[in-house]
Amino acid sequence: VRPRIAVVGSINMDLVFRTPRMPTVGETITGRHFFQTPGGKGANQAVACARQGATVDFVGAVGADLFGQQALAGLAAEGIGTGHIVSSDAAASGVAGIFVADDGANSIVIAPGANDLLSVAQVDAASPAIAAAAFLVCQLESPLDSVRRAIAIARAHGVGVVFNPAPARDLDDALLSQVDYLVVNETEAAQLSGIAVDDPESAVRAAGALRARGAAVVLLTMGDQGVLVSSPDYTRFIPAVQVDAVDTTAAGDTFVGSLTVGLARGHDLGAAVAEAQYAAALTVTRIGAQSAIPTRDEVIHLMTQRRGSP
Ligand code: RIB
Ligand code: NA
Repeated sequence: VRPRIAVVGSINMDLVFRTPRMPTVGETITGRHFFQTPGGKGANQAVACARQGATVDFVGAVGADLFGQQALAGLAAEGIGTGHIVSSDAAASGVAGIFVADDGANSIVIAPGANDLLSVAQVDAASPAIAAAAFLVCQLESPLDSVRRAIAIARAHGVGVVFNPAPARDLDDALLSQVDYLVVNETEAAQLSGIAVDDPESAVRAAGALRARGAAVVLLTMGDQGVLVSSPDYTRFIPAVQVDAVDTTAAGDTFVGSLTVGLARGHDLGAAVAEAQYAAALTVTRIGAQSAIPTRDEVIHLMTQRRGSP
């Protein structure tokens, strides 16, 4: 049976420059090539959920422009419900300018545009879709009040909350205490905990601080260092799946989406995290955001290849 997931979040068009290295301030360099690919943390996470086999409803906003049309068509082609996506001529569709260097590292500037129009009223209108889901997934590329409302609706209906507070910003304990699974990278963990995360020991302390602030379970993703799982039952590192990095864009989003689907299927936390690591590893081996996110069959294939069983 296909788990049902609601995603409240952002939609961007990613304008990607491949470059030998990052330019420094004031410098002009010649890159390798350019491509355009659908992105946005919300949309990426929704696509990750859909490709892992979930039925997904999306709540978001695009501009009434070509990028918005392309984004809607792309989400619909994944089978994602787009009935709660507003198309507005009051702003341009969200855009992300992305530099990806040869070593796979990236730098991103986002122009949120229509994503900033996602209103509390729009989230309220989508409450039946949120209430019908096993999990709500949200991020911070959308207005905080709207995210807050979505989480409140989920809580009121017993829907699990997976929150990826990216990009990082300060949040109050009242919000964090409504989160079942808080997924953060080192930067976000540091911002929210006040503890610089630079080694396993500081990661454990930061995750503990975030649980003390109210999050039930904290998953601290540390790239090729793996994921720290901090739950009431245990704290442990789950190693990353080693791959040759081509482009890390959307690896975190793939992790969030795959994790959520695993949890919605009733997998235990360790198994859901491990599978999400395989999914994220595949995303790292391919260029682009949504263009890189694997299907469930691809994830199972890699797991079978690497450890002999799915
Ligand atoms: O997490 C990756 C995403 O961040 C990109 O697709 C880009 O659109 C930005 O939102
Ligand atoms: Na990628």
